[in-house]
Amino acid sequence: MSELRENEQKTLNALKNAGGKGTVEDVMREADLAHAAVMRAALSLETRGLIKVHESKRMRIYLNDEGKRYAIHGLPERTLANTLISLGGEASIDEVIEASNLSRQIATIALGWMIRKGWARIDKENRRLRIIGKPERGLDERVIETINKRGSVFLDELDRESVDIIKTLKRRRIIEVDEEITRELELTDEGWKLARTSIKLIEEVSQLTPEIIRSGRWKEIRIRRFNVEAPGPIIYPGKIHPAQEVIQEIREIFLEMGFTEIRGPIVETAFWNFDALFQPQDHPAREMMDTFYLTYPSMGDLPKEDIVRKVAKTHENGWTTGSTGWGYKWKREEAKRLILRTHTTAVTIKYLAEHKDPPLKVFSIDRVYRNEKVDYKHLAEFHQIEGIVMDRRVTLRDLMGILKEFYSKLGLKKVQFWPSYFPYTEPSAQSTVYIPKLKAWFELCGMGLFRPEVLRPLGIKHPVLAWGGGLERLIMLKLAVDDVRFLYKNDLGWIRRSPICQ
Ligand code: PHE
Repeated sequence: MSELRENEQKTLNALKNAGGKGTVEDVMREADLAHAAVMRAALSLETRGLIKVHESKRMRIYLNDEGKRYAIHGLPERTLANTLISLGGEASIDEVIEASNLSRQIATIALGWMIRKGWARIDKENRRLRIIGKPERGLDERVIETINKRGSVFLDELDRESVDIIKTLKRRRIIEVDEEITRELELTDEGWKLARTSIKLIEEVSQLTPEIIRSGRWKEIRIRRFNVEAPGPIIYPGKIHPAQEVIQEIREIFLEMGFTEIRGPIVETAFWNFDALFQPQDHPAREMMDTFYLTYPSMGDLPKEDIVRKVAKTHENGWTTGSTGWGYKWKREEAKRLILRTHTTAVTIKYLAEHKDPPLKVFSIDRVYRNEKVDYKHLAEFHQIEGIVMDRRVTLRDLMGILKEFYSKLGLKKVQFWPSYFPYTEPSAQSTVYIPKLKAWFELCGMGLFRPEVLRPLGIKHPVLAWGGGLERLIMLKLAVDDVRFLYKNDLGWIRRSPICQ
């Protein structure tokens, strides 16, 4: 048997004292509790099978102001009859009304009732009023007295004759009738059992005050338990967008793995986005269809002349990298063009050019731009994640290990690597991961070791592992969203429904 709260105990006791049954009002009186407190206790006792709650609709009858006046001074026909008796039992109508002190209007009605009740008679010839015998106290007067004494009565407490009287009194506008729902609480056998085993009252408080602590009263009292399952109002606190939650999670994974975050400008020269990465100037990705070029300003600055010259030579004939290059005339003007970066590799390569000492572990999570036709798979503005590791003797194996670890921390345990191609890495690979929920493999990050054609012109002497890829696909897989546009639609319902912890 679980414990009873103070108010539940009081309610059980009150019902026991009342013989096992009582209305909510009875319990309120007996236990000295507020209506809401009894209701709450009753609800809880009922769900535990200790009481039954019977609901019924009842008509409550009470006197209005006029009725209360008549309860004290008598009905106007009684006043009129008494006046007539005091006048000797016979008088003219005007005389009686005058002597009764009643208003003309009320007196006229009272006259009618006096005649109807057979208390007096009007002599048709001389219009005089004569009393008949001794006017008896009627049922209507007794009912008024009862209601007045009790404050109110229920219609169902009255016998049939009294109910008829009530109808008349209602028509005379002496009483009011209100429909009321009454709840009667009744102890069940279980309830009786518990009530009989002399219930001890334990004081309960819902709030601990300094007074309770100081006085030491906390030793005796009980602190009310919270019902954490009780339904409460739904609230919509401010929260982080689900996509940002995933970004934050990935950022933390990189940090856990010892990487440092770097950021670069959104507007970059083609030099860092393409040329430094050994992408030929006639590469199709550079065309307007794929890349956003700025109109104003349209040109940016190139880095140190030394680097520019080496990059140019590598493109033209391979310089000292061991490569034959692309075999074309490299144009400075093409490299100076300003674009919106198309990948975050522009950020890492520029960072590398200024940080040539191993070891180096950095990452970037940021926006990139491509001139794509927007559909369920493509956006023109999206995010990429990118990481690089530079150290003295790192190899493709290390890169695969790092990626496996990275995906594993995201909860993706099955990973495969496939040969692939990027103009700036050799060897190059593509990683695919298995998503159990969808029972399918998905391509996530591209990867590889930067080519000598990329590293030598920048003066980097150690191997650099690099990988990167779109972030939205990962977010979509994590959040079970199948249209990339939906991520940025700001669907309030979806944002509200998304759990704070994924
Ligand atoms: N930059 C490539 C892309 O945008 C990804 C990549 C990064 C590949 C680093 C290899 C090395 O898809």
